[in-house]
Amino acid sequence: MKLFLDTANPKHVAEIASWGVLDGVTTNPSLVAKEGGDFKKTVLEMCKHVPCVSAQVTATDFAGMKKQGEEYAKWHKHIYVKVPMTTEGLKALKYFRSKGIRTNTTLIFSVPQAILAAKAGANIISPFIGRLDDAGEDGMELIRDIMEVWSHYKFDTEVLVASTRHPRHIVDAAKCGAHICTVPYDVFTKLPKHPLTDVGLKKFLEDWEKVKKG
Ligand code: E4P
Repeated sequence: MKLFLDTANPKHVAEIASWGVLDGVTTNPSLVAKEGGDFKKTVLEMCKHVPCVSAQVTATDFAGMKKQGEEYAKWHKHIYVKVPMTTEGLKALKYFRSKGIRTNTTLIFSVPQAILAAKAGANIISPFIGRLDDAGEDGMELIRDIMEVWSHYKFDTEVLVASTRHPRHIVDAAKCGAHICTVPYDVFTKLPKHPLTDVGLKKFLEDWEKVKKG
């Protein structure tokens, strides 16, 4: 399973990429607004560290999405144009696929939406599980359903588990066989940690002090 960082903070991308485990980055307008950086500069900085950076269009009509997406695609070869799951978005996905511009479809909340985005040619679809959990539904159930559907067909569309909230979401996404999981920085930094690792390492280092070294 590929691991992405869900952020618009290039320093966080550089830090996690230095661990050697980062495959990509997802951004969205809210994350960019939170960090306060210039959008293009932020995206280009993150492209230095990973081969896949999603940059979201903010136009809501096909013509506007086409214009923005074509511009983003010229910025860097690592950019995936992030398109919202609407009927205008479906037209844009089809168009971008015909032009070889790679895409990620955002705001997927149902299996029919997932199927339509895949049929329109999305390279990646992003079902948002945390927001479904927040609404009292079972977000991971959607991932299980999508992966079951995918097992019957030959879609080349990767399923990216988005809106993750805690490490258990990453474990469950992997058990479902999802292709990608995007993870917020505060959750990503929890993944390498276990209290028994800390206790064990402390003991090894203490015992090493007692070893005679010639
Ligand atoms: C994914 O591409 C989105 O940026 C993200 O996962 C949304 O997560 P949120 O529900 O925590 O805002």
